[in-house]
Amino acid sequence: MAASLPVLTVATPWDNAEAWRTALAEAAPEFDVRLWGEAPDPARVVACAVWHPPALLFERCPNLRVVHALGAGVEHLLQRSEVRPDLPLLRLVDPVMTERLAQWALAGTLFFQRRFDRYLRQQRERRWLRHDHEDAGETTVGVLGLGVMGRAIAALLRRNGFQVIGWSRLPKELPGLGTWSGSDGLRAVASRSAILIAVLPLTGDTRSILDGDLFAAMPEGGFLINAGRGDHLVPADLMAALDTGRLDGALLDVFPVEPLPADDPLWHHPKVFVHPHAAAISNPRTGAIAIAEGIRAVLRGERPANLVDRERGY
Ligand SMILES: NC(=O)c1ccc[n+]([C@@H]2O[C@H](COP(=O)([O-])OP(=O)(O)OC[C@H]3O[C@@H](n4cnc5c(N)ncnc54)[C@H](OP(=O)(O)O)[C@@H]3O)[C@@H](O)[C@H]2O)c1
Repeated sequence: MAASLPVLTVATPWDNAEAWRTALAEAAPEFDVRLWGEAPDPARVVACAVWHPPALLFERCPNLRVVHALGAGVEHLLQRSEVRPDLPLLRLVDPVMTERLAQWALAGTLFFQRRFDRYLRQQRERRWLRHDHEDAGETTVGVLGLGVMGRAIAALLRRNGFQVIGWSRLPKELPGLGTWSGSDGLRAVASRSAILIAVLPLTGDTRSILDGDLFAAMPEGGFLINAGRGDHLVPADLMAALDTGRLDGALLDVFPVEPLPADDPLWHHPKVFVHPHAAAISNPRTGAIAIAEGIRAVLRGERPANLVDRERGY
């Protein structure tokens, strides 16, 4: 039976490739789901679910009709010429991953608002010192990027009593949320935000956007949380802002080079908290369901909501 089915191939350097294959086989029984390298006949491959796939996959599969990313950010796939413009490229939008990221952002917000950062440092010095703090309702959190992730973060923060504002490329009206767009809008959001959470896609317009100018626009002693991509941040500007007290802490989940090299000064900065790109790890079980739906939609000739717009780059 499997020999007659179209092939969906999984190509990823992650160590859970087999878990993805198993989950996709369950979610998409109309396909013969194979790891790349075990695909019996490349001519039968019509779909692939990938993260950093080998170039050979695209050269050897003449009947490939759809490429689905195993994650939400696809800048690395857009840079690959083998992912031809005529191939629909989909990114992962999985409610479980969205919830994971929103909860991580809430945890990071509470971490700084309730000064866990200070208490961690104090414990190392065995210092017993209490700090008063602003309550959630007095704390404005700015969310950069109001897409799937940004909107979920904003909603969860609001449910926890925070004042939330946001920034996107195009103007938006979202209930209960002050929103801005454009470069003037970015300064407006930064200047009002005690805590700034960046969850942007990496494009030509957003690269190095978390820089000294942005930190200078923020209220003194603010906090940065970055869950977008490492190349959004200018690390030297961040460390300078932390050293002068302009910012008082940063929680970073993403880095220009991952894993973060052992000699990177961010590891040792007392006000930087490093997470190993773990804010919202893709979940094969639920991710496979979303991927199967997206691939089916493309093969039916539909335009799924998570189709990447190559012009805008996300
Ligand atoms: N750390 C992790 O574990 C993790 C997990 C998932 C995602 N991510 C990162 O989060 C990113 C966003 O994911 P998503 O699913 O929310 O993406 P999305 O739904 O495509 O939303 C992207 C948002 O960014 C805004 N944006 C893009 N370019 C902009 C610009 N130049 N100026 C202002 N706003 C801009 C968009 O504005 P418009 O609404 O006007 O288009 C949109 O609101 C991903 O690309 C990925 O890098 C990280």
